[in-house]
Amino acid sequence: MGENDGPSAALQAAPPFALITQADMSPTNPGPNLKPCAPATERNREPIERVLRQYLADRRKVIEIGSGTGQHAVHFASVFPHLLWQTSDRAENLAGIRAWLQDAGLPNTPDALSLDVGGIWPEAQFDAAFSANTLHIMSWSEVEQMFGGLGQVLTDDAVLIIYGPFNYDGAFTSDSNRDFDQALKADAPHRGIRDQAAVDTLAASIGMRLIADVAMPANNRCLVWQRSSTSSHRATC
Ligand SMILES: C[S@@+](CC[C@H](N)C(=O)[O-])C[C@H]1O[C@@H](n2cnc3c(N)ncnc32)[C@H](O)[C@@H]1O
Repeated sequence: MGENDGPSAALQAAPPFALITQADMSPTNPGPNLKPCAPATERNREPIERVLRQYLADRRKVIEIGSGTGQHAVHFASVFPHLLWQTSDRAENLAGIRAWLQDAGLPNTPDALSLDVGGIWPEAQFDAAFSANTLHIMSWSEVEQMFGGLGQVLTDDAVLIIYGPFNYDGAFTSDSNRDFDQALKADAPHRGIRDQAAVDTLAASIGMRLIADVAMPANNRCLVWQRSSTSSHRATC
């Protein structure tokens, strides 16, 4: 694969994820449980953790959109015990997420939420949201729905962190990202790497201001927004 999370991330898009046994994953911890495995999460979790450590230090409740296998959730909930880490994903991924959560047995990971961004969002409020490698998998209208839903569930000062590949001024940032985009579209035409500015416009529409755009390994980015109740873009009702 190229330098980005690339084809392996594309494969993560289409459940079921590759299933491997615990014995495959950890020879010292054999077990009958089948847990989905996305190898990219093992590679990108430490770089993402460094960003989260900076921006989630004073947060309490995080909702993760498109938790996938649940591997990120288990890692981040483990290294950030002050956070309640609320996983969510489409219904077909919940069994895998639950398998990871159950095995980890962490006190700060409530049951995974069944959440399609185009469906009904929970009543709960969160002071942070995180999502990795989701925007290029969703259709653009789903991306819009995701921001609409986040607008409902995020508090007035919430932080939003989105990890993944992005384009700038309509251009790919690397050849590997261009190849990745082609592979995504060959898989499903509605998929593709999103333009950072277009995503930032959606964020602004729910009152969020971009406070950091961090270069990550393998041609990915971590975009960080914070909501301000004084923002002129804040939706009102
Ligand atoms: C490439 S996977 C990334 C999974 C995980 N965040 C990671 O980094 O390993 C994309 C995820 O987006 C989720 N997804 C796609 N469309 C969605 C939608 N409409 N609502 C909620 N989640 C969605 C998929 O189910 C999948 O878990």
